[in-house]
Amino acid sequence: MTVIRSVVLGCGSYLPRQVLTNAELASRVDTSDEWIVQRTGIRQRHIAAEGEFTSHLAINAARAALADAGIDAQAIDLIVLATSTPDNTFPATAVAVQSGLGINHGAAFDLQAVCSGFVFALATADNFLRAGAFKRALVIGAETFSRILDWNDRGTCVLFGDGAGALVIEAQEQPGELSDRGILTSHLRSDGRHKAKLYVDGGPSSTQQVGHLRMEGREVFKHAVGMITDVIVDAFKASGTTAEDIDWFIPHQANKRIIDASAHKLHIAPQKVVLTVDMHGNTSAASIPLAMSVAVKDGRVKKGDLVLLEAMGGGFTWGSVLLRW
Ligand code: UT7
Repeated sequence: MTVIRSVVLGCGSYLPRQVLTNAELASRVDTSDEWIVQRTGIRQRHIAAEGEFTSHLAINAARAALADAGIDAQAIDLIVLATSTPDNTFPATAVAVQSGLGINHGAAFDLQAVCSGFVFALATADNFLRAGAFKRALVIGAETFSRILDWNDRGTCVLFGDGAGALVIEAQEQPGELSDRGILTSHLRSDGRHKAKLYVDGGPSSTQQVGHLRMEGREVFKHAVGMITDVIVDAFKASGTTAEDIDWFIPHQANKRIIDASAHKLHIAPQKVVLTVDMHGNTSAASIPLAMSVAVKDGRVKKGDLVLLEAMGGGFTWGSVLLRW
């Protein structure tokens, strides 16, 4: 019996031109390249230019993904954009992307799950495609976290960066087997008891200000590995796979120590782990599609490969997606 799967047609990304190195940060706040590299693995991050918005990054990433897929923007009937740094409180940044791409049919909306946003957006689009509601989706993670950082707080300002990544997926009939191309299983979780551990201290309803990112880093770290590994074990169980079967592990890029510890606990070989946190920092919802783009462009991820995605972030939210490229 055939099933509908959301199959990847292409991916793309965009990074703002300005690069901010650890050394430059060390001249502004009491930190050092050595501390940042040792504790996080981050060496540099990209920062959006004045007047460059989340939608601009997203449109560039979407165009790159459409070109990679070899399809016209008019073939897209769903845009799900994951972001915590929208251009405006409303309308959704997704509609700015929709109009920027010249699309005026189908649906476009934003989704907010902070650093887990891309995993949540991909799972959401996959469910719409499998239900037959839409045929082809652009799933985008785009952020300008530089705009919500407290640049005097060394505990957070060294961690984040700006960027965008996008994936084009299409509903296709597949045999209904593990060898199918497309998304095989997805698992999403949230636990609002942790909402004060990583948050922005402002918003339209509470302060009428945008606010700044606040984080109890050690607390987030403490929970991260357990949550990440739990939801990956769920993906393994649901699909009947093991760490051995995985070709590429593309985790949310928050901290190299969290990624290394998660891969180690799951027995995923280090050479299968895609790491971009050194070049991009933590770009929240954009980090997975940015990392994906790097690994596709450099020839690592190929058609037929089994790819495991995971993310964990504010809320807390966390989730995994297992897909065959
Ligand atoms: O993507 C969403 C999810 N977010 C995350 O996954 C982030 C999770 N957390 C982390 O990645 C880590 O907790 C951090 C990288 C944020 C911090 O690393 P840590 O090893 O947990 O350090 P810490 O917070 O325990 O701080 C150790 C010391 C402190 O000094 P004292 O109290 O020991 O004297 C901090 O004040 O390091 C100090 N510190 C810094 N020193 C130099 C904190 N930030 C800096 C800094 N430069 N930028």
